[in-house]
Amino acid sequence: MESLENNENIITIKELNFSYSDSHHALTDINLEIRKGEIFGIIGPTGAGKSTLLQHLNGILKGEGEIIVDGIKIDKKSDAKIKEKVGIVFQNPDDQLFCPTVYEDIAFGLFNLGFKPAEIDEKIHDILLKMNLSHLKDLSSHHLSFGEKKRVALATTLVMNPLVIALDEPFANLDYKSILTIIEMIENLPLTRVIISQDILLALSICQRIAILDKGKIIKVGASETIAHDHNILSQSGLDFLPYLKIIKRFL
Ligand SMILES: Nc1ncnc2c1ncn2[C@@H]1O[C@H](COP(=O)(O)OP(=O)(O)OP(=O)(O)O)[C@@H](O)[C@H]1O
Ligand SMILES: [Mg+2]
Repeated sequence: MESLENNENIITIKELNFSYSDSHHALTDINLEIRKGEIFGIIGPTGAGKSTLLQHLNGILKGEGEIIVDGIKIDKKSDAKIKEKVGIVFQNPDDQLFCPTVYEDIAFGLFNLGFKPAEIDEKIHDILLKMNLSHLKDLSSHHLSFGEKKRVALATTLVMNPLVIALDEPFANLDYKSILTIIEMIENLPLTRVIISQDILLALSICQRIAILDKGKIIKVGASETIAHDHNILSQSGLDFLPYLKIIKRFL
């Protein structure tokens, strides 16, 4: 695929702070620039604030500070437009799927945007085919396997044709084959991709740049090649992969 990557920012975050309550400060002084077309990773240990940060990218959560998406500042006025530009795939697919069938789950957002039934049908047909999900269209999402649910949740977001897709833990709880399928799918999407993950090795393998988030703060941003060799920073947040590689080395 032709690389869409360039130096133009599609998302700029300035001095973002967010608390769930007075006592729990979840994000502190976040500054981040995500470039058009890149695969950008936000990686950190459990509880670091990754999902919280992700939900700021399309205004689900609103903290103090400024977030600009494709030249538009996120605020109450721009809310609907921003949600069209940035599609989020949640950590848990059950949070995203609630209709009686897969078809209706995928149709839901398009219907709300006022597309005609014939247009909706065509778009769903295309996305089901592209994602190899056509055989599931009449089933209830709740009867699917976890991996299938994850793919359907991705389809409900992709069908809306966003500029940016942000995926929360796309590899979690999947077998290796499903992980490789998801990686290939993400790599071939012609849009800006933000990956949230605890899995530093998978993130390094797919992302061009990575931000390390720890205790609500960005402690490092850099090219994957640079991050991969910064064992100091990785160990600080419990992400160093060398001890893990030592364990599995004897099987390689
Ligand atoms: N709705 C909420 N109300 C209060 N505190 C919350 C809420 N959601 C998250 N938190 C707290 O905010 C912090 C960051 O949570 P978040 O879910 O963003 O972390 P995470 O990095 O995504 O973790 P994980 O890797 O386990 O998914 C945690 O301490 C969590 O307990
Ligand atoms: Mg999370």
